[in-house]
Amino acid sequence: MKGAILFTGKFGSTQQYAQWISEHTSFPVFNLNKENPDPTDYDLLVLGSSIMLMKPTIKKWLTTFWPMIKDKQIVLFTVSGTKPGHPDLQKWINNSFSKEILMHINYIPLRGRLNLNELPWFTRFLLKLGAILEKDPETKQRMAEGFDYMVKSNISQILKWVSEKKERKLALV
Ligand SMILES: Cc1cc2nc3c(=O)[nH]c(=O)nc-3n(C[C@H](O)[C@H](O)[C@H](O)COP(=O)(O)O)c2cc1C
Repeated sequence: MKGAILFTGKFGSTQQYAQWISEHTSFPVFNLNKENPDPTDYDLLVLGSSIMLMKPTIKKWLTTFWPMIKDKQIVLFTVSGTKPGHPDLQKWINNSFSKEILMHINYIPLRGRLNLNELPWFTRFLLKLGAILEKDPETKQRMAEGFDYMVKSNISQILKWVSEKKERKLALV
């Protein structure tokens, strides 16, 4: 079974998860902000996307390429500050993709990292401003101070999904 990991992210945490998944699966990794792989070359796609301003950054790519990949096995992982299981995350995903996409893909949310010192000054300024206006105390703290929830073991659900798909394919051969 031929698989690949395709991701969009800006500050390195989505890429880090993509690389960790690749170490375990040996699937190649493509940064969709820099590369243009042909997704039809693969049976199984692991898609990774950061969440920025309440939107998955892979939205445009996935919507554009959907007609070409809709028959493939697809798992989408998002990387955000918001905790997996928080209702906002599912809302942002539901608002970003068609019902057909939502029904077909497997969705796994992960938490990432935000190092305020790595951000351009204007983005940092906007986040600090947003933190002042934010009502939820946990989100406020995250926006004001940054965070790091990156742990390799977070990818275990994705690895499990990949091995289940590989086993099923073998059983059918
Ligand atoms: C400008 C900006 C906007 C963000 N907006 C959100 C958001 O709306 N919701 C959220 O949960 N996290 C948000 N985050 C946090 C990112 O999702 C998190 O830092 C993620 O790990 C970034 O992925 P990357 O390192 O691959 O770019 C935002 C971060 C930045 C810098």
